[in-house]
Amino acid sequence: MTKLISINNKIPFFKKKTIFVEGDKSISIRFILLSSLSKGKCIGKNLLKSEDVISAIKSIKKLGIKIKLNNKICEVYGKGLRGYNYKKNIILNAGNSGTTARLICASVIDAKHHIRVTGDKSLKKRDMGRIIGPLSKFGAKFFCDNKKLPLKIIGPKELKPIFYDEKLGSAQCKSAVMIAAIKTKGKTRIKCKPSRNHTELMFKKVLRIPIKVQKFKKFELIEIDGFNEFRSFNYKIPGDISSASFFIVLTLLSKNAFLTIKEVNINPSRTGIITILNKMGAQIKFLNKRNYKGEVVADIFVKSKKKLRSINLNPNLNSSAIDEFLLIFLVASKCEGMSKFINLSELNQKESKRLDWGIKILRMIGVKVSKIKNHGVKIWGNENLELKKKYVIKNYLKDHRVFMVSTIAALTLGGKWSIHDPDSFKTSFPSFLKILKSLGANIK
Ligand code: S3P
Repeated sequence: MTKLISINNKIPFFKKKTIFVEGDKSISIRFILLSSLSKGKCIGKNLLKSEDVISAIKSIKKLGIKIKLNNKICEVYGKGLRGYNYKKNIILNAGNSGTTARLICASVIDAKHHIRVTGDKSLKKRDMGRIIGPLSKFGAKFFCDNKKLPLKIIGPKELKPIFYDEKLGSAQCKSAVMIAAIKTKGKTRIKCKPSRNHTELMFKKVLRIPIKVQKFKKFELIEIDGFNEFRSFNYKIPGDISSASFFIVLTLLSKNAFLTIKEVNINPSRTGIITILNKMGAQIKFLNKRNYKGEVVADIFVKSKKKLRSINLNPNLNSSAIDEFLLIFLVASKCEGMSKFINLSELNQKESKRLDWGIKILRMIGVKVSKIKNHGVKIWGNENLELKKKYVIKNYLKDHRVFMVSTIAALTLGGKWSIHDPDSFKTSFPSFLKILKSLGANIK
């Protein structure tokens, strides 16, 4: 039997509600990997207990690291930079998680035997060449077909520090090189396009690894002195802005709604969606801002907005909103005028081809959209967009964000929706449907 959810009504008015979203996925995965390389017992609070993070935990356990997970508290017993037990025939399964797959290849870059890394149907379609290139320069050897999973990796006798010119603006590539760098004697240098900087902040503020980050107009230079052991640490993971974004857009596009989302990470390398929505006329505010180990945590206040403006987006903002474009497209379809986005080729490198999905969903709901050059789209919005027909979303690669954005479209635009693969949201945001229901959504 195919599993699906049905939504036949918009969400009723919700006023003055407060919610919490779960811990940040990027930081949760980094916590697991980096704590496993520290010396001693690390405690992570508010860890995201989603399938992606569980894949990271299972993989690290296979390397001989003890991890205990109780509710959202995680204890990791790190054994230092050379503490993994590389047994023969280990298979690390990253499931659906690109971050786990790419960062774990770096974590085992000194493997004494071949380590196999694999993933699910969606992950096996994704490009691993982007990390195989730089990690090979350290001296590791990779074996795979078409630069895709499954792959095998084995480390060299001695790792060599590298210079790496990162041109995609990918935090996963940058972080993979950074993790390989801490296992390597000498200075690794990375020139990179700006992208989320959680690894840099953890290295600097939590692990106290010798790292220098210089920011220039169009790129950053990172220098890391490798092979310095670091002590165990504790970390309380703040809420995930990518999860919060679904509720921000739900509120914005609903009538008379007010919502506070507590304790969300508003690191500027992640808040592109807020900047973009505020440029489109939203009035999203950050309250109770505070610093936490280099990250910035705040409560987000959002209210519905009847009139929103179209946008011609400066692609400099793409990276800080990279996981939120399906939501941004949805908002663009509900405001007057034509919006334009370019340089979005990376969207088609995600769990599914999200640029193509965005176009497909908008066309399905009758919004005029056209592909333009430089991997861009133009969207002609309509502030009176109201749906009445039946819509079916069959999400063959079970992309969690395609599922969740379809749910938000159904709850804000109307129509009768059947959305398949409801388990997909457990990849990143297990309490998604529960929170929606607590706000009054009628979902069957
Ligand atoms: C992530 C980086 C981004 C993002 C992904 C998580 C990370 O991917 O899309 O969901 O945790 O570093 P890229 O680095 O490939 O852009």
